[in-house]
Amino acid sequence: MPIQYDETRRMFRLDTDHTSYVIAITEAGYAAHLYYGKRVSHFPDAKLLRQDEYPAPDVLPREKLTYLNALPFEYPTDGVGDFRPGALGVRNAKGQPGCELFYASHAVTEGKEGLPGLPASFPGEEQGVETLSLVLADPALCLTVTLLYSVFPKEDVITRSVMVRNDGKTPLVLEKVLSASLDMDDRNYEAISLDGNWARERHICRRPVGFGQTTVRSIRGESSHQENPFLALCTPDTNEEQGEVYGLLLMYSGNHIESAEKNQFGFMRLSSGIHPDGFSWNLGPGETFAAPEVICTYSGEGLGRMTRNYHDFIRGHVIRSPWKKKPRPVLINNWEATYFDFDGEKIYALAKEAKQFGIEMLVLDDGWFGHRNDDNSSLGDWKVNESKIGSLAELSQKIHGLGMKFGLWFEPEMISVDSDLYRAHPDWALQVEGRTPTLSRNQLVLDLSRKEVRDTVYGEIHAVLQNAGIDYIKWDMNRNLTNIGGIGTGREGQTELLHRYVLGVYEMQERLITDFPDLLLENCSGGGARFDAGMLYYSPQIWCSDDTDAIERLRIQEGTALVYPMSAMGAHVSKCPNEQIGRTTPFDTRANVALAGTFGYELNLADLPEEDRKKIPEQVERYHRYHALIADGDYYRLHTWTDAEPYDCWMNAAKDGSEALVTYVQVLGRPSTNSAKVFLRGLLPDARYEIQEECGTKAVQEYGSFQPLTEGWGDVLMNAGFPVPALGDFQSRLYALRKI
Ligand code: DGJ
Repeated sequence: MPIQYDETRRMFRLDTDHTSYVIAITEAGYAAHLYYGKRVSHFPDAKLLRQDEYPAPDVLPREKLTYLNALPFEYPTDGVGDFRPGALGVRNAKGQPGCELFYASHAVTEGKEGLPGLPASFPGEEQGVETLSLVLADPALCLTVTLLYSVFPKEDVITRSVMVRNDGKTPLVLEKVLSASLDMDDRNYEAISLDGNWARERHICRRPVGFGQTTVRSIRGESSHQENPFLALCTPDTNEEQGEVYGLLLMYSGNHIESAEKNQFGFMRLSSGIHPDGFSWNLGPGETFAAPEVICTYSGEGLGRMTRNYHDFIRGHVIRSPWKKKPRPVLINNWEATYFDFDGEKIYALAKEAKQFGIEMLVLDDGWFGHRNDDNSSLGDWKVNESKIGSLAELSQKIHGLGMKFGLWFEPEMISVDSDLYRAHPDWALQVEGRTPTLSRNQLVLDLSRKEVRDTVYGEIHAVLQNAGIDYIKWDMNRNLTNIGGIGTGREGQTELLHRYVLGVYEMQERLITDFPDLLLENCSGGGARFDAGMLYYSPQIWCSDDTDAIERLRIQEGTALVYPMSAMGAHVSKCPNEQIGRTTPFDTRANVALAGTFGYELNLADLPEEDRKKIPEQVERYHRYHALIADGDYYRLHTWTDAEPYDCWMNAAKDGSEALVTYVQVLGRPSTNSAKVFLRGLLPDARYEIQEECGTKAVQEYGSFQPLTEGWGDVLMNAGFPVPALGDFQSRLYALRKI
């Protein structure tokens, strides 16, 4: 039984296959956190693991208590003497702050429910998922707070979320509702987050956690290019295979905060949820507020185990699309091939050319609607620009006639000032009256908290999809949110607007995938500004980054895959010199790197040298050959490039150890070096493997008489290593291993 309650001790133990999480109800009725970590088979003997925990709430009556800043709380609140970051901030009807929660009841149920209006993980095919609903109450506020913990034993995951209900007769204001808080002792933890910028998303950043607060956050209205809603704490010895790691991944696509605070007692408080800046929620009598889910995992076997827990969990319990188990059609996207400079004939010619090489889908990107020929106009006018591309339905028919699928780009959340929509409804843009709105990419943001706005935009998209027979949508979103005021919203609702906007996006995407259940939806946000678990609930893949350079992608994809499965990473082969960085890399290397994600092309095929064009059919075939292994297998980071060792290497191994694929990329070549030795993972120690070089760029420098291994024992390849010849700049190798 994953969730046990010991009535005499008033303790809960939540067990996954390798972890335990223990909560105690103290004499005073507080829900205290006792333990999270490696699995234990017994309940702790004391309700507070440290008997001198100060002040001692179990000993002193409430009226004698001073501060509450030492007790490890399950869900800390603001205003009553806990000076660490609280998870819940409430004001009563008079505007006075403070909240204090005491145990009220609990229930353990099989399975797991969804959350109203929000993405939420689900049990899927897994048996044994259980949920603890721990109900806490503040009698002074007539407030009920239900802490939800769902236990997924196989993936070592515990999800947490919170429902806050006003049971009184007067309105309350929620100023902060975080989704999870975790108190623990500090063990010189280091923080790991996924940071960056446009075209440099999700680089792994690791640093010591000092006194005070270490935060990851976004107040940009989306999860952001800059700081992904993920934070891990690990012990300093942690590497891929050893060390203890706690991961918190928020399933939300708007403003967020993840923080680790080390305080005066050397305690650590880790928390995650919607960023309280600019947020407050009016909770009327009888109303409930649901906070988004946090996916928590603990690994006692380093970062690699944490990654594989998240990959298995997201694949099994977050992504719903029927496409998640299917190979995605290899696509050609016209963005980097043409930008806005195209017509129907050009697009059809690109499709025809692509078809010759076995490419399976044409995606028509930005610029097919309104009168959009650059990024100054037409967002919001989802009417086909027939003078530019002719009839979309006919184009779609012709592309389908080639035996290809047809995909289309939309940016449903935006409005251009130069658009019919804006001329008709200027009040539909987010804005603060009397203030000039901040433009970004010349566009404004629609107020998606308003139903009539969502309905109108959705109605137009629906009509295009129905008329033209569209198989795939790229849902783009190209700016951060500013001037977050709503003309259709009253005074009190203004602070709810940002969250309601995110709920509006979720509602529209839910409608889309319900009305078009076979549609392949790819989310995107100026590259990868909304690569989060919330979006993956609606789309099985997300465009990873606008940076398509193979070498830049190494860091971007490595960081993304720290948490998110490879089957979700949009990755394309693009032209050289690369559009973002000007670098020229071999065509094989571009394909080998893109193979780690959902594979496609984004270039003008006609401009490619003949020797590269010839390789495409083989690359498409390779994607299909290895799709299942990459999408469903175990991922291992074998080597990250550094200045001293400028190569990158990762592998995907089948869960039963029967096959594996190793990708090696030399970032810079170096003269007079030996072959590199990589230590493989995920193989069966006693199995013998045949090793085949799948795809290799011609080595610029291969010294000596390097003899590639063609066979090897699993344990030898994992422990003694596998040699790869010294290669030149940007060269790469792909090795396929098959159990003999
Ligand atoms: C940003 C996306 O990331 C690109 O791939 C492309 O679709 C452009 N927007 C189009 O405006």
